[in-house]
Amino acid sequence: MNIVFLGPPGSGKGTQAKILAQRKNFLHISTGDLFREEIEKKSELGLKVKSFIDEGKLVPDNIVLNVIKRRINLSSNILFDGFPRTIEQAEGLSQMMEEISKKIDIVFFFEISDNEVIKRIVARRSCPKCGRIYNLITNPPLNDEACDMCGVKLYQRDDDREDVIKKRLEVYKIQTSPLISYYRLEGIFEVIDASKGVEEVYLELERKIEQKVRR
Ligand code: AP5
Ligand code: MG
Repeated sequence: MNIVFLGPPGSGKGTQAKILAQRKNFLHISTGDLFREEIEKKSELGLKVKSFIDEGKLVPDNIVLNVIKRRINLSSNILFDGFPRTIEQAEGLSQMMEEISKKIDIVFFFEISDNEVIKRIVARRSCPKCGRIYNLITNPPLNDEACDMCGVKLYQRDDDREDVIKKRLEVYKIQTSPLISYYRLEGIFEVIDASKGVEEVYLELERKIEQKVRR
């Protein structure tokens, strides 16, 4: 089973992907996380993508597709989080999957209002060590601003400033939302009400995955 999580920034894709990968044994591929790791390492790729990310723009399709090509694994169930984000990426993905006799089985669309995502993103904090995602309002760490698991200080992403969030939402509407009709036409599209609580959203995802397996 191979899954895509599609949705605006802050809709909860990363939160759900981490839970699903852990409980159901998926290989979680988040292009955003991969790019942030490269930026942290100050690698050549990191230097190339940093300015796009800081400005809330999309990284060029050829760079994204190259990164994905190196990660796709023959044997595992893959969960793509935040990829594809353009029609060109979707076409590139479908070609890559075909080459290894795989396909995308479900595209989950995380539906949520702009106001809700802005509220969520400004309160997001992440662990620099294990990548765990917190929210100062809806999912706060137990102790001040340290990770419950690692104890290290949480950080706020550079692109989580309100002006950059607005830009990311605009880019999402223009470049990524056309994927909604693209995948609807392919008949593998499922809408998830992402405004609900974390566990409720997870249960809806799980139910829809099980339905698909039974079909
Ligand atoms: P990326 O890292 O993918 O960011 P994004 O899509 O903007 O999404 P976010 O990670 O901001 O949100 P999310 O949906 O994962 O929400 P989360 O679970 O964290 O990409 C960053 C940048 O990299 C892009 O702008 C672009 O430049 C580049 N990039 C990445 N992929 C690319 C690609 N394919 N092509 C080109 N460029 C690419 O949750 C958000 C907050 O809400 C958290 O605080 C969380 O605790 C809280 N929360 C989550 N769920 C709930 C809930 N149900 N109820 C209450 N609070 C919740
Ligand atoms: Mg994310």
